[in-house]
Amino acid sequence: MTELSERVLRLKPSSTLAVTTTARELREQGYDVVSFGAGEPDFNTPENIVEAGCQALRQGKARYENVAGTPAARQAVADYFKSRFNRDITPANVIISTGAKHALYLAFMALMNPGQELLLPSPYWVSYPAQAQLAGGTVKEIPGSLENNFKITPDQLEEAITPNSKVLMLCSPSNPAGVVYSRQELEAIAEVVLRHPNLMVFADEIYERLVYGPEEFTSFATLSPEIAQRTVTFNGVSKSYAMTGWRVGYAVAEEPIIKAMTKLQGHMTSSITACTMPAMIEALTGPQDAVNSMVKQFAQRAARIYDLMKAIPGIKCARPTGAFYILPDISALFGKKDADGKDLNSAAEFAQSLLRHKYVAVVPGEDFGAPNHIRLSFATSMEQIDKGLQRLAEFVAELQP
Ligand SMILES: Cc1ncc(COP(=O)(O)O)c(C=O)c1O
Repeated sequence: MTELSERVLRLKPSSTLAVTTTARELREQGYDVVSFGAGEPDFNTPENIVEAGCQALRQGKARYENVAGTPAARQAVADYFKSRFNRDITPANVIISTGAKHALYLAFMALMNPGQELLLPSPYWVSYPAQAQLAGGTVKEIPGSLENNFKITPDQLEEAITPNSKVLMLCSPSNPAGVVYSRQELEAIAEVVLRHPNLMVFADEIYERLVYGPEEFTSFATLSPEIAQRTVTFNGVSKSYAMTGWRVGYAVAEEPIIKAMTKLQGHMTSSITACTMPAMIEALTGPQDAVNSMVKQFAQRAARIYDLMKAIPGIKCARPTGAFYILPDISALFGKKDADGKDLNSAAEFAQSLLRHKYVAVVPGEDFGAPNHIRLSFATSMEQIDKGLQRLAEFVAELQP
């Protein structure tokens, strides 16, 4: 029997896979499954971006590029940061990676020593703890709650910090909670960070364009030059421009950090796929109408799914104000029985039963550090939202004490 590495054996398997697998099986059997599982826009990449990628290939962009990205791609990110956040950076502050996901992994590998802590507000995106652990780090959760819209407070942060704390993770707009930190809330967190000189902040701003109010998006590193020095910002084109499969993301940080990440990337992937960089440049610098239209539709869906969800007795939830997720609390329904007489005692059991009885796929919150919740992505049509939420309401109404 092949002996696998301890590193990989320590990684937690994903409980979301169970639901995805059952959903696929049911669909193959011909059932009409409504899926709220998607972590990606249901729109196509805008045509001007596709064309830029195709043209790049025709022009022979099929060779290795500079490891950290082409000068033009890094400049495009610098220009985007100037025009969108009024932040002055140079191409040397930018690394283009295989999605924000790999940029994050590089940053953990570049900054975290074994035994150092990731301070992780929950609920969180599943890859953060896994990546910190792969870098040898440990994870300390800072629990968020529905009462404070899943946002951590400065006091909570201050209490969590130890001399071993290396990275604070901030994800706004958030996956999986769909909420956005206000500027004031971020300023209060920044004040705490500045009191602890060894603590870095990883600001995951991949959903930055997808914001529906009342909070306006604030990029954490723009709060002050001191905070910029202590922050690695992650962003990309996956979510804003419907480009998840192109695998283009980037990180912005002080030059020595970018150099360290580049050293790692040089051994891991080399540059990203050459023809995707001109497409990224077109996304960031070309017409923005497609993004604006997507945002409008996400805003309408956010309002609809929230209204339908909060009308279901026994379910509580926060209004989604960013990204494309809603994270209802279903714990009041734990202990009830489904149509087969089976007790539902966890989000995973709730999700499995909902799928088997009503053919609605949602993601249970256990893996996100939100065991009382299920996550629904509203990156799906209004019709699917209406149909799925009606089935969810029926499912809850049919549960027995
Ligand atoms: C919070 C968050 N960060 C980062 C990513 C990674 O995005 P990508 O690697 O496609 O740029 C995702 C994708 O699901 C995400 O939800």
